[in-house]
Amino acid sequence: MIQFFNKINKVSGTLSLSGDKSISHRALLISSLANGKSIIKNLSESDDVLSTIHCLRSLGIEIEQSKSELIVNGRGYKGYQKPSGQLYAGNSGTTARLLAGILTVQSFESEIIGDSSLSSRPMKRIIEPLTQMGSKIKSSNEGKLPLKVLPSESLQAISYNMTVASAQVKSAILLAGLHLDEKTTVIESVQTRNHTENLLGLYIVREGSNTISSVSRSNYPEPKEYFIPGDISSAMFFIVLALLTKNSELTIKDVSLNTTRIKCLSILKSMGGKIQIDERGVSNNEILGDLIVKSSELSNVKIDKQTIPLIIDEIPILAVAGIFSEGVFDLRGASELRVKESDRVKAICSNLLKVGLDVAEYDDGFRVSGAIKKQSEPFDSFGDHRIAIAFAILSLLMNSGGRVDGFESVSVSNPKFLEQLNSISN
Ligand code: S3P
Repeated sequence: MIQFFNKINKVSGTLSLSGDKSISHRALLISSLANGKSIIKNLSESDDVLSTIHCLRSLGIEIEQSKSELIVNGRGYKGYQKPSGQLYAGNSGTTARLLAGILTVQSFESEIIGDSSLSSRPMKRIIEPLTQMGSKIKSSNEGKLPLKVLPSESLQAISYNMTVASAQVKSAILLAGLHLDEKTTVIESVQTRNHTENLLGLYIVREGSNTISSVSRSNYPEPKEYFIPGDISSAMFFIVLALLTKNSELTIKDVSLNTTRIKCLSILKSMGGKIQIDERGVSNNEILGDLIVKSSELSNVKIDKQTIPLIIDEIPILAVAGIFSEGVFDLRGASELRVKESDRVKAICSNLLKVGLDVAEYDDGFRVSGAIKKQSEPFDSFGDHRIAIAFAILSLLMNSGGRVDGFESVSVSNPKFLEQLNSISN
């Protein structure tokens, strides 16, 4: 489906976004483990989170959904039921990888599959640490999905030095370790998002530049009530749109302000972005609050390699911001972008070339300079929700407007994007 966007004149008003996708997956998974009813409010409406719900239902978890909340009837310690078929994780890497950590402690065999994008993404990164723990987890396709998870007689706690900066890998290990009496420890030399640790209330130690998280059965969850703060990664697209549109002011309410997720806000502020951050509270150890964003003149800044994992999902929109900022947008140390829902380095570069920008593609990043010329052919989403939305924002900022092919992929993270955009457009 090709979606057209006219140039936007002004952004104004207030947005409340549905729950953060990463926190929503974890609230669901952790509720499914607790013994009894948990209530989740403001759950993400994304297709990815629907994939987690779908897999949990296949594993015998009863989930009741009403307009305002969701009730998860968790089955307690090692209480999942053997599914009658394969577990379909759709496009969702978080579903596949985190669920693998939980399935490995169950007493039945299961198999995780996904769509064509997810089936081409690396799974060795979870197979390797889980195998160290004694898991019997096998890929029938060179370290990719389908993944078969067989019951293991004995699992052991490990201390694991992360080799890729990935919150999904860290979480798979922690969720398996949650079922063991001994302490499992994960050591990160580069920090990644910490929602699993927050929702389980884990003990975290900082030693120099290392972040060390430990988990054991003593952290096993009880049923709870969760309020999921608004999705900060979805917010970032509207933030960049408001910053770069004249005479604009946008408020975004009750959004996640988790410090491992708002690095992109700091970067936009250091570029000259007028963004006011008002913390409002904490829910299940997750900070939330409001953002007020005003039109700004931006200049590109150097992006430090160490911060890449903390802005990994925001790079497509940060690149769009970079085009409209003084100086050159230059990003290195981001090879992980190549194994996301699409090869995002390639997706961004090929789309930017379509509007005549000067683009240099590197193995681990890209550089963009020059000025936009008229779009002759539509941007391609590459079936990737964040590419689709980033290039929708670019289209809205271009004098000629623009088009995005494959726009339906937005529902992977934000099915209400067009509705929200209409509500703040003038
Ligand atoms: C996520 C972690 C990140 C991110 C993804 C969601 C999570 O992936 O890109 O969109 O919820 O843990 P990696 O952990 O693989 O970097």
